[in-house]
Amino acid sequence: MSQVIEQLAGASTERAGNRGEIARRLLAELTPFRKDLAGAFGLIVFNAATQAVGPLLIGLAIDREIGRGDRRGLAIIIVILVVIYVAGMFATRAQVRQVGGIGQEILASLRQRLFDHFHRLPTRFFDRRPVGDLMSRVTSDVDTLNQFLSQGVTQLLGSFFSLIGIIIAMLLVNWRLALACYLIIPLMLLTTTAFARRARQAFRRARETTGDITAGIQEEISGIREAQAFNRTEQNIARFRTRNAANRAANVSAVGITSGFAPAMDVLSTLATAIVIGYGGLLVFDDRLTVGLLTAFLIYVQQFFRPIQLASQVYTQAQASLAASERIYGILDEPGEVADRPGAVAIDPAEIRGEITFDGVTFGYESDRPVLHDLTFTIGAGETVALVGTTGAGKTTIANLVPRFYDPDAGRVLLDGRDIRDLTRASLRRPIAIVLQEPFLFSGTVAANIAFGRPDASRDDVEAAAVAVDADRFIRDLPDGYDTPLGERGAGLSEGQRQLLSLARALLADPRILILDEATSRIDTRTEATIQRALSSILRDRTSIVIAHRLSTVRDADRILVISDGAVVEQGTHDALLAREGAYAELYRRQFRTTGPVPEREPIAVAVP
Ligand SMILES: Nc1ncnc2c1ncn2[C@@H]1O[C@H](COP(=O)(O)OP(=O)(O)OP(=O)(O)O)[C@@H](O)[C@H]1O
Ligand SMILES: [Mg+2]
Repeated sequence: MSQVIEQLAGASTERAGNRGEIARRLLAELTPFRKDLAGAFGLIVFNAATQAVGPLLIGLAIDREIGRGDRRGLAIIIVILVVIYVAGMFATRAQVRQVGGIGQEILASLRQRLFDHFHRLPTRFFDRRPVGDLMSRVTSDVDTLNQFLSQGVTQLLGSFFSLIGIIIAMLLVNWRLALACYLIIPLMLLTTTAFARRARQAFRRARETTGDITAGIQEEISGIREAQAFNRTEQNIARFRTRNAANRAANVSAVGITSGFAPAMDVLSTLATAIVIGYGGLLVFDDRLTVGLLTAFLIYVQQFFRPIQLASQVYTQAQASLAASERIYGILDEPGEVADRPGAVAIDPAEIRGEITFDGVTFGYESDRPVLHDLTFTIGAGETVALVGTTGAGKTTIANLVPRFYDPDAGRVLLDGRDIRDLTRASLRRPIAIVLQEPFLFSGTVAANIAFGRPDASRDDVEAAAVAVDADRFIRDLPDGYDTPLGERGAGLSEGQRQLLSLARALLADPRILILDEATSRIDTRTEATIQRALSSILRDRTSIVIAHRLSTVRDADRILVISDGAVVEQGTHDALLAREGAYAELYRRQFRTTGPVPEREPIAVAVP
């Protein structure tokens, strides 16, 4: 099941639909703005009409007023021309404003939808996607669309209607000459489509390499300390240079392709002018066309190509935008977490006893590499169970299945005897608090971080939680105490301090089920001893899963499960397991040997087994 979803997920990013479909979806974004668009549309048509009428007036002026030497008539025509052009100018301005506003609305909505969707995506989705690439979709891809939506679309629409206006005007003035000029149109279409196809590919490559660059920057800046420590800066810089070069190459090739477009249009424009002068001249000889109208025609032919030139510039933007939209819709099409089953129950927090059962659970992050093998065990309501085992044994994986970060491939996880897939996710996660192996703090104050799971908690509650995990002391030493702002990821605190804060956060949430994954691994033994005492009261009355390498941390658990290679190999109390002389006794003794005798009830500092 899960691998099917993964395949679908992987495929749909690449297969966000063809160009026509993407364009249709972008257009569909416009539906809510029908009224505004109608207004803009009217303005565009008006503007196109002014452009079509202008040359005709000029032609008439040449034939009549100038031909007859009618000064007054000429002055009137000039005034009319100016009025028409000024009106057209205001219409353009109003329309650019209106369409630009609509564009911004759509952008904001896309950005919001992307961000919202990230929160609905399954944990699995993020296992293999670089954060930077995802970021570039919300930022740079949306910005690309911005240029197109705020300027491009108006230019494109304006050009299109001007073109129609001009085509009609030409037909009315002289249909023969008009048809002769239109011979150019098929050539124009051919050229445009040829460029279109190649440019699209080039622009898609450009977008992808931009994504790579952002992803690279994100990762390498996050890991810059490691790079410095391991003398890897040179390699990182070299790797970035390669990515940067690939992006430059992709953009250069895109520019190279589009750069040919304008000159090609120039050639066609010259050809059209030649047709007008040549064939139009012949028509004038035969008295079937006046000199004035021939002049009007020359202006039309120039104007005929101006919208097309403009469109060619916009075209570049449009291609880039299609590529960007493809990446944006690629994310939006990503299936979110499997929806709650129909009829899923929202379990009442007050009713939860907190018994957790793994019933024949088999699970792997990749389908062909199971991490948990037919795992079966029960953690009674209110029981504290410790999971111990070697690195990579599957302890964190077990913890991941309880709040449904992942679903098992086979078997079931039960809460109070009910398959957790029959509960709504929100109601399942509400009574669970987790201190992750790599806790994450957000930028914000210390107090806000502790109150993360219960934003409405009072300052007293926050402080009480901090006192319980012995975080209060160091927090009071911070410049602003509980109001000290933390940097991104809790920068400015030691790792142990970050762990204490996330412990306090879990505690404040007052969960029915508490999962501590190596929650005290970075805390010194003295502080740990204090926490240990607090923990015993914290863990009482809740179902708790405590994962720890330091066996001193797990000694007080009601039961210890020894996990090896995704299976429970031993279980029992500390004393019972020691007496068994099995895997646990072995683990314990190895710690014992490296650290000396274990004092009764006093935690010890030990190396990771
Ligand atoms: N997101 C992931 N994608 C693929 N494989 C994973 C992922 N997370 C863990 N694994 C694999 O699953 C196995 C179990 O990992 P897990 O994190 O559960 O170990 P653990 O017992 O918590 O180890 P540790 O004591 O080091 O925290 C490991 O072999 C690991 O390579
Ligand atoms: Mg782990």
